[in-house]
Parts: sequence; structure tokens; C-alpha cells
Amino acid sequence: MEKKKNFYITTPIYYASGNIHIGHTYCCVCADTIARYKRLAGYNVRFLTGSDEHGQKIQEKAKQAGLEPQAYVDQIAQSFKDIWKVLDISYDYYVRTTDDYHVALVQKVFSELLEKGDIYLGKYTGWYCTPDETFWSDSQVEVDEHGNHFCPDCHRPVKQDSEEAYFLNVKKFVPWLLEFYEKNPEFFAKDKMNEMINTFIKPGLEDLCITRTSFSWGVPIKEDPKHVVYVWIDALLNYISSLGYKTKDESLFNTFWGEDSEIIHLVGRDITRFHTIYWPILLKALGIREPDKVIVHGLLLTKSGVKLSKSLGNAISPYPLIERYSADSLRYYIVREIEFGTDGNFTPTQFIDRLNSDLANSYGNLVNRTLSMLNKYFQGVVPEFKDPMNDFTKKLYEEIEVKLTQYNALMEDFKITEGASKAIELVNLGNKYFDDVAPWTQAKNGNIDLLKECLYAACEIIRIGSIILSPIMPNKTKDALDQENVPEELRTLASTHEIGKLSNIHINELHALFPRLKKEEEVAYLTELIDGPSK
Ligand code: MSP
Repeated sequence: MEKKKNFYITTPIYYASGNIHIGHTYCCVCADTIARYKRLAGYNVRFLTGSDEHGQKIQEKAKQAGLEPQAYVDQIAQSFKDIWKVLDISYDYYVRTTDDYHVALVQKVFSELLEKGDIYLGKYTGWYCTPDETFWSDSQVEVDEHGNHFCPDCHRPVKQDSEEAYFLNVKKFVPWLLEFYEKNPEFFAKDKMNEMINTFIKPGLEDLCITRTSFSWGVPIKEDPKHVVYVWIDALLNYISSLGYKTKDESLFNTFWGEDSEIIHLVGRDITRFHTIYWPILLKALGIREPDKVIVHGLLLTKSGVKLSKSLGNAISPYPLIERYSADSLRYYIVREIEFGTDGNFTPTQFIDRLNSDLANSYGNLVNRTLSMLNKYFQGVVPEFKDPMNDFTKKLYEEIEVKLTQYNALMEDFKITEGASKAIELVNLGNKYFDDVAPWTQAKNGNIDLLKECLYAACEIIRIGSIILSPIMPNKTKDALDQENVPEELRTLASTHEIGKLSNIHINELHALFPRLKKEEEVAYLTELIDGPSK
């Protein structure tokens, strides 16, 4: 298949109802890794994130904080941007559902679909989960032995509610949706597709309630302003409102939502239904193209298997982790340790072990020992490249190519956990080669040619390893490339195949990239951070 030149990747827009925790950073770090990889590979990338700022919960939170809703969400949106800055999330645009252009689009879409008959006025009775802002039907809610009703998603109590409301005529599109799934088996993961079909579609999909009259913090519709559009229809439209859809200048929309664009939504598994059922239907109703893929990632859980969540009050802030271990270490852990697509537990031991094994002992160590030996034996100058004299060095260069091919295939396929693993395997080729050749022995024995061959090859591995790790750790890899003084033109993905251009470079001053962490001390620190002081 011909590759498309534009690439559009989005994260969910986060509820502006509290602080960010490491569960949210998970999604942004993964999306950022993909976006950075695609830029490195030469695509025209647009990476979108933002905040979901309407709804009853936010209105209530603002009241508790003694603020107007707008002032409240302004503060929260700023706090989101702050954490993304610290974590080096390279988004191209930050969308807010309270932005004028967004509100205008929600109103236009509502009017258009109302006129077409895809939205109609009805009455809604159902079980409402306030923290999740979702209505559930009788068949969906959980009921305990006392007859109490609970949200099937977050398991908190729900209350029965009834009001006049507008609905999106979802039922009409069900046959189309099933056909769309069949024709596009890659649209999202097969197991999730089966789950959506069996849990939601087969039992009979209800039309989606899209407005409320019992609170005001939403987008008022022009035709009937006591109704506000809230949560899902409002939120989902962010992906196209921020591209200027239905405005005077639709150039971004035409580029990134056009046929020559690959469109990827990254979402947590808890919001699969909205992105794989309602969003395709809404787009179909509007007569515009569908995204290529919804990548559903797992959730970060505590060690007892509970979702980390703001509203469950068990969330871990990313700030202390970043301060103590660096943003890049947290990013690496997120991408490498938690299998992309499945749930993962955040546990202190795994966290420290991963940082020590891959970053301190593998990548950091290779950089440090190679560059230190360049200082020691060659006054900090990379030896002249020569065609390898030894078969084991020739083999090393071949193996680098193999790993690169595997890495690129995995990253193109959004398999970032395995991509990260390949990148460290490549770095470890360098460590193994180093140990096998033992350059310090060669120096002692006066085998200067082999010493040069070895250090030159290690410099290439540092360079190539840093380039392919850069989507995951933009800062530390830049630091390594700067220490080695690699020229800009040799920092591109294409240049990873160009061996031999580092001759005679003067390296810069050295410093350690990753300290080796004292396991017991750090595990104790993290345990206290997560569970509070031990009694
Ligand atoms: N506002 C909606 C999304 C609208 S998108 C059009 C929403 N917001 S949220 O803040 O509750 O969650 C946003 C994303 O953060 C979801 O994809 C969710 O999966 C992710 N995470 C929230 N907690 C998480 C974990 N504990 N672990 C991993 N991701 C988590 O839903």
C-alpha cells in the first residue's frame, strides 16, 4: 500500500476536573513517542491533545472551588500544559472544548444533523453516573443483592434520571457500522471489536442522548438553548474542530483529515466504545471520512489491580517521579515496561529495575565507557573509520542493520514497547561487542588498530541507538549525541544506515546520563510515595 504523507495522531482530551496523574501521562507519552518517530521518519505530522472542559462534574468542581466554571477550567488547562511541557510532549496543537471555534462547530453540527433528521427530540430515562457523566440502561447497570444500582464501568452508585433530551439516531447506522468493521478489520483490535459487537451492538444499541437540561455548563444549542450538548458529542468533535472543519480556512482539515492522511486516535480502553461506535457513526452522519485506526491502550493499575484514577483518589502524581528520576526515565518506563495494549501495574521494584538495567547499565554505560576511553586513549577524538579488519566487527555492522529493520517495522506498526526493546537490544550489541573485544586489553597489548576499530564501532552504536531511542527519550538522547558531538545531519533516521562518517570528531565534555539507582532505598521511597508513610 502506498504510504500517506500526512500523519494525524490524537490523544483523548482529558477532563478538566483535577490534576493529571501518571495514568494520563501514559497516553500522552505513548502518543508523543509515535508522533516523534513519525516526524523522524519524514512524515508531515500533526499531534493533538487538549482538555474536555464541559459537563456537570466540572460545573460542580468549579463551585466547590468557589470559581466560575470558565475560570476553573482555565486553571486546569494551564496545569495540563505545564505537565506536558515538563514531560516534553511535543503536541502541535492544544484544543479546549471551551474554545470559540469548537463551540461554534458543535452548534453547526447539531443544527445540520437536526435538519437531516439524524438528531431528534425525545425523553431520556436511565441510570446516570455523575462521575463518569454517562447514562446507562437497565440492562447495563449492575445491581447488588439489595437492589442498589451501580455503574458497570466504575462501580459507583448511579441514580435514575429522566428529562427531555435530544438523541443521535445511532440505530439507523448500525448495519453500516457492522459493514464498516468487516471491511476495515484493522480499524481497532480484533478482541476489542468482538467485545463491542457482543456487549453493545448485538444486545441492541440505544440511540445516544446528547443533550441535558439539568445543568448549564455545556454548549447551548441554537434551536433550544436550555439544552446543552455535553460530554461525548461535544468532546469527540475536538478532533476536527481543531483542524478548522466548517470554518473559512479548512486547509488543515483538508491536509490532516484528507485522503492523503493517516489518522490515528490513541485512547484508553475505558473509552473504546465512544471512539469505535459513536465517533464513526457521527462522521458517517456528517459524510466525512473515517479514521484509519483507533489504538486502544491498557490502563495503569495499582499493584492490587485497581485503575489509577482521579475520581477514585488513588492517583500518583508524575511530578515527584520526574524530579527524582528525570522526565525521560519516566517516559522510558512507560513505553518499555507496560506492554502497549494491555493493562500494566505500576510497581516500585519494576520501575527501579527497568531504569537500572536498560538505562544505567546498558545505554548510559555504553555512552560513558566508550567516550571515557576515547578521552583516555585518543584525546577525545573519534578514530578514523576504516573498513573492518575483523569478521566480528563486520558481523556487528550487519546485526545493527537487522535490528534497525526490525525496529522500524515495529514502530511503523505502532508497536512501541517492542520498538523500545529492539532499540535497547541494539545498544546491547554494543555492550556485548565491547566486552568481547575488551578494548582496555587491546590498549595494554598495543593492538591499536583493533582498539580504534572497537571504539569507532561503539561510537556508531551510541549514535544510532540514541537516534532510535530519541522518540522515547528526547532529552537524554540529545545529551548523548551532544556529548559525542554528532553533527546534525547524522542525527536523522535516514543517517542510521550511513556508517563511517564520524571520523575525527572531537567529543565534548562528559557527564553520566543515568545514575545507577540504589534499589532498596528507591523502592522504599516509591512505596512511601504511593502508599503513604508506613505505620
Ligand atoms: N474526556 C474524556 C475523553 C474524551 S476524548 C474525545 C475522558 N477523559 S479522562 O480524563 O477521564 O481520560 C482520558 C484518558 O486518560 C483516557 O483514555 C483514559 O484511558 C486515560 N487514563 C485515565 N486513567 C488512566 C490510567 N489509570 N491508566 C492509563 N490511562 C488512563 O475520558
